[in-house]
Amino acid sequence: MADLLVGQVLSFAADPFAEGPGAARIWERGGVLVEAGRIAALGDAASLAAAHPDATRHDYGAALISAGFIDAHMHYPQTAIIASWGKRLIDWLATYTFPEEARFADPAYCAEIAGRYLDMALAQGTTSMCSFATIHPASVDAFFTAAEARQMRVLAGKTCMDRNAPADLRDTAEAAYDQSRALLQRWHGVGRARYVITPRFAPTSSPAQLAALGALWAEHPDCLMQTHLSEQTDEVAWVAALYPKARDYLDVYESAGLLGPNAIFGHAIHLTTRERARLAEVGAAVAHCPTSNSFIGSGLFDMAGLKRDGLRVGLATDTGGGSSFSMLRTMAAAYEIAQLRHVALHPSQLIWLATAGSAAALGLGQRIGSLLPGHEADLVVLDLASTPAIAQRSARANDLWEALFPTIMMGDDRAIRATWVNGRLAHARALA
Ligand code: GUN
Ligand code: ZN
Repeated sequence: MADLLVGQVLSFAADPFAEGPGAARIWERGGVLVEAGRIAALGDAASLAAAHPDATRHDYGAALISAGFIDAHMHYPQTAIIASWGKRLIDWLATYTFPEEARFADPAYCAEIAGRYLDMALAQGTTSMCSFATIHPASVDAFFTAAEARQMRVLAGKTCMDRNAPADLRDTAEAAYDQSRALLQRWHGVGRARYVITPRFAPTSSPAQLAALGALWAEHPDCLMQTHLSEQTDEVAWVAALYPKARDYLDVYESAGLLGPNAIFGHAIHLTTRERARLAEVGAAVAHCPTSNSFIGSGLFDMAGLKRDGLRVGLATDTGGGSSFSMLRTMAAAYEIAQLRHVALHPSQLIWLATAGSAAALGLGQRIGSLLPGHEADLVVLDLASTPAIAQRSARANDLWEALFPTIMMGDDRAIRATWVNGRLAHARALA
């Protein structure tokens, strides 16, 4: 049985950073035909309805139908400590993050938070994410199990640490290799799951642990490798002290075999010229985490420069260092950070980053992130008049971009009319 979703339809065939807003295709009264979990066709609503009279019709009126949001970097175990006050990165990890992550020794707690987090993500229109788990293999099992129950395409891995962390959150080089390998074999490519090799960051791994994970990646090069890079200046200085022989922070990873086109680095703010050139040369991706960068006081990501260098950039909440589960709020924060660098990101660029941009950064651009025939049917339906403040502003709009921008800047979960996952309705906003 097919479903026909009707509304304003937004699809990207190209990158608006390269092509401008014309990279988008917009049908004012459009339709998306969904069949067997895939997008079967899209186009003018009336023609699609005439060609597919048996499809179940879901008329969303003037709401905008887009690819679902994709969060390119986040920590599901930090769900319960989001919005914790008053610390910068290293103190924030020690004060809030590590005690919370220690609770994931209990598989029941892992399952509770995984389910809670994924349901909140769906209510925010987020259909896929790439998550760090904790040191505990059960935290990875719980996340993939909860995502499988919701038919979501997710990426995740065991967060490996063997130093500069509390004893109950440390493994060893060998355990990191063995446990990551076992989890990879259990989950990678099973249903919609993808395993990601996950050293937390250079300060919490010994050189031996980084090398062990580099060896594992060399054995499974189709997996992604995720970690953190140059988020705060204190952290960069600490890495230089811990790895005195490295040319720079990126070189620590490269020396351990942890740099390649399937690498995605969170933050990447305080980069040297060499690091930027090397990331571009290798074709690695970065995840921009704007609410986190202002919340923990990290710095101003150079979106325009890194896009100009040709890097793949994904957009990410980085919860719980980030201060919101909402990719709308995250787009707003990306806009604000770019403004502080005298760059105005266009609404087409913001929503592209949150969908196709993140998909490409995660190596999934051929499957998700765009409304294109054959892509997996993960969609969000956005109400562009979800509050009185937004409605009165979008009523004045002259085109879709002007109509969308107030929702990007002021919208929240009330703007998420519906979320579809794998061709099925996964969340519908309760109408007041
Ligand atoms: N660097 C290492 N671990 C983390 C983390 O959990 N959150 C953030 N924002 N940065 C990190
Ligand atoms: Zn992170």
